[in-house]
Amino acid sequence: MTVLRDQHGRSIEYLRISITDRCNFRCVYCMPEQGLPWLPKQEILSYEEIVGIVRELAPLGLRRLRLTGGEPTIRPDLASLVAQLKAVPGIEDLALSTNGVKLPQMAAALRAAGLDRVNISADSLRPERIAAIARRDLGFAPVTAARAALEAGLDPVKLNVVVMRGINDDEVTDFARLTLDFPVHVRFIELMPVGEMAHLTDAHIVPSDEVLARVATLGALAPAEGPRRGNGPARYHRLAGAPGTVGVITPMTHTYCGSCNRVRLTADGRLRTCLYGDHEVNLRDPLRAGEPLEPLFRQALAGKPLAHDLLQLRVGGLKALSQVGG
Ligand code: 5AD
Ligand code: SF4
Repeated sequence: MTVLRDQHGRSIEYLRISITDRCNFRCVYCMPEQGLPWLPKQEILSYEEIVGIVRELAPLGLRRLRLTGGEPTIRPDLASLVAQLKAVPGIEDLALSTNGVKLPQMAAALRAAGLDRVNISADSLRPERIAAIARRDLGFAPVTAARAALEAGLDPVKLNVVVMRGINDDEVTDFARLTLDFPVHVRFIELMPVGEMAHLTDAHIVPSDEVLARVATLGALAPAEGPRRGNGPARYHRLAGAPGTVGVITPMTHTYCGSCNRVRLTADGRLRTCLYGDHEVNLRDPLRAGEPLEPLFRQALAGKPLAHDLLQLRVGGLKALSQVGG
């Protein structure tokens, strides 16, 4: 078998695996307050099925995995999935994206099971505002969650902030200041136009150049190496003397599709090669029918688009990230 490449020569080493479409939050930029029509349980891949797909992809060059959702920590016995995936030959790096609510209680067990690193969604440092953006008050405290992750030995620990004008953009410098105190990587993400964004509009998008200009009011800001083992499109900077870094992710103002190294597996077993559009192949039904998956991987990669243009999409152009494995 040869290494998998898409039709543009990009090799696919990185798979994001959504293990549930459900979430205990209802973030304003992600889903409606009453939630989405959740997938029935029998349509969701079992842990055994997920591990089976990864075992078939690993010999084709897959090296790094990220577990996402929905919210992955609400699926029972996550640590057992972590342990099974980390044991697949060829898998070098296993990451988790979480809203952080359960991290203080779970970080040590996940690390012990083989989790390498974590991304925590944190859109505010103020409790009332966190509850207003997530539309659930679950006592989430970003700094407590980040500390728990660092103490458990997860490395790197990243905090992802979706910046929204008039909603949380006044906290950009507060978040950036955390990098002076902790070895965390704060990444500011441009708001994307997903389908379920309630009252959010293009006017809420804050271009990352503007975010960096605000960070620079804190002190000298220089381009920096990202955290080791990074997979993604963030560009990093460091405040002078800071143990952590400040990154920006710019889906709206710059595209980075040319270096896109990722594919996504949805909770119901579709392999999606781009966030945008309907570039996906059903793996679940063939898997359940005992058919070989490799031809389907190749078919999926052949359809991986060269680039998206989110700016032309506007609000409603993307499916909720909880449905496609943000
Ligand atoms: N715009 C930007 N980022 C989003 N995410 C989800 N929805 C959006 C959106 N509309 C990202 C955020 C969030 C993670 C789960 O997915 O980083 O923290
Ligand atoms: Fe849940 Fe993440 Fe969507 Fe928020 S953004 S509702 S935490 S899946």
